[in-house]
Amino acid sequence: MEVIIRPNAQDAADLTARVIAADLRARPELVLGLATGRTMESVYANLVRLHRDEQLDFSRCRTFNLDEYVGLPADHPNSYRHYMNNQLFSKVNIDPANTHLPDGTAADLEVECKKYEWYIVQCGGIGLQLLGIGRDGHMGFNEPLSAFRSRTRLKALSPVTRAENASQFPRPEDVPHRAITMGVATILDSRRAVLLATGADKAEIVAQAVEGPMTSMISASALQLHPRCIVVLDEAAAGGLKQMEFYRWIFESEPEWAEFRSAKPSP
Ligand code: GLP
Repeated sequence: MEVIIRPNAQDAADLTARVIAADLRARPELVLGLATGRTMESVYANLVRLHRDEQLDFSRCRTFNLDEYVGLPADHPNSYRHYMNNQLFSKVNIDPANTHLPDGTAADLEVECKKYEWYIVQCGGIGLQLLGIGRDGHMGFNEPLSAFRSRTRLKALSPVTRAENASQFPRPEDVPHRAITMGVATILDSRRAVLLATGADKAEIVAQAVEGPMTSMISASALQLHPRCIVVLDEAAAGGLKQMEFYRWIFESEPEWAEFRSAKPSP
């Protein structure tokens, strides 16, 4: 795991988008794992800008999102499909047929989970997985006690997560109780993982996930097992880390980060 600390949330999102863009330019047929949430909105805005201004090409890439609420159809304003269409898919040259999210309205949800996992494998596995982190340490909707060997499946949402996501719904009671999510093992199988977290309210859980012991109570701590994972933070979200100076030194001195150190954040 490598930790990259940027001065503010905009710079952190900008760097995250540039890491994705570099992978996509190197491999136009990249299978991209995508995440939702407020933190990701500026990553997608940056990708849209890179598409518009620097011809970043999505025409051959395929995407798989981490999760979807159970019971919300694709056109529901709170579905993750709706979020993705709005934030990214409708604004870049991606073929809608190449974009995948679990179907939370499938007649047989267990079969839907198995099909989703199977199709990721058919497409060659996730090349780069984008991740956020919930305040209870979840990635996707892998709530506390998610097994590290779990695959795409149904999960009940914790009260913390339902409360956290309630602001996006008309009423708190509208937040679904269940979701389909890639499992922890599905995420760990990705060839590269990039977790982005910003803001002081994420500092404590980020410190536990990155420097604390691995535990299924904090599913993001499983990323300590990932062979190629970067955690991109702003100063506020990095506030609880003990080894901050070491992480800064790596980013400032390792040749692999040279192009990202010099990149000017977007206006
Ligand atoms: C939801 C998503 C997660 C995301 C989390 C944090 O629960 N399922 O994938 O990481 O929200 O979202 P935010 O960026 O809004 O804090």
